[in-house]
Amino acid sequence: MLNRFAVLGNPIAHSLSPLIHQEFAKQTGVQLVYEKIQVTGEQFEEQVASFFNQGGRGLNITLPFKQKAFAMAACRTSRCQQAKAANTLWMHAGQLHADNTDGVGFIRDLAKYQDLLGKHVLLLGAGGAARGIIGPLLAAGITDLAVVNRTKEKAQALQADFPTIQCYRLEALKDSYEVIINATSASLTEKTLNLPAFILQSTSFCYDLAYSLKSATPFVAWAQAQGARATDGLGMLVEQAAEAFFIWHGIKPNTLATLSELKTLTAWDNGYSATP
Ligand code: ATR
Repeated sequence: MLNRFAVLGNPIAHSLSPLIHQEFAKQTGVQLVYEKIQVTGEQFEEQVASFFNQGGRGLNITLPFKQKAFAMAACRTSRCQQAKAANTLWMHAGQLHADNTDGVGFIRDLAKYQDLLGKHVLLLGAGGAARGIIGPLLAAGITDLAVVNRTKEKAQALQADFPTIQCYRLEALKDSYEVIINATSASLTEKTLNLPAFILQSTSFCYDLAYSLKSATPFVAWAQAQGARATDGLGMLVEQAAEAFFIWHGIKPNTLATLSELKTLTAWDNGYSATP
């Protein structure tokens, strides 16, 4: 029987998850099939159930279904519970299990570039992506976390859920930061954020959760133009996939090798995607 896996979402055409999992499989000798499944209309729950009923082994879930996947699961890991969203599903003892590997993937990738303990960090955005990384950032030893959001109400809701963070309007910022993370969806539409240069220090590190296969994201381009070190979220994409692979197969793949292989394999692609 096929060892069948898939990523479910809408849109899904640009997802790199099949490429990444096939690379992991090649590297570790695991036999698998990994597909992309486009969710049609309101059929998310039916498509998940049918995948597992037909013997499917594991699913990755991407936008906009992570909350629905969370709601469907009978058993959730504590980090999934904290994120209130799931990106990895599997069946065990007849029950649907869920995890969220985005946070650990983000921290593992960021930690390759920057020691986080005690750093003065600015997070841009207060939507779903920002929510998913605040818990992992606090757990990684960030005690000084400022959040900026365009809309006041969303920032206030975030502040209520995470009392130790400080929320600001962009215009009210006065400090510079050692680490700046872009969790807005602005890069997805190639919009720049009009950030003041004084928020950067000469040694600041900037991380964009979005990624682009064709050129630097607007946020990465802005940071580099100011002389700061910066990276996009392609490494996070590989790390979150590696953790899902570990959950399903019990083997940790080599993420550095996969990331460099991915860059080679996608060099021809002029597409643009931030869909895991
Ligand atoms: P996601 O799940 O990708 O986080 P989301 O929940 O819709 O998507 O959140 C998008 C975030 O990007 C929000 O913080 C949004 O700011 P608002 O709350 O003010 O809408 C932010 N965002 C998107 N486009 C932006 C832009 N051009 N400038 C500033 N912030 C932007």
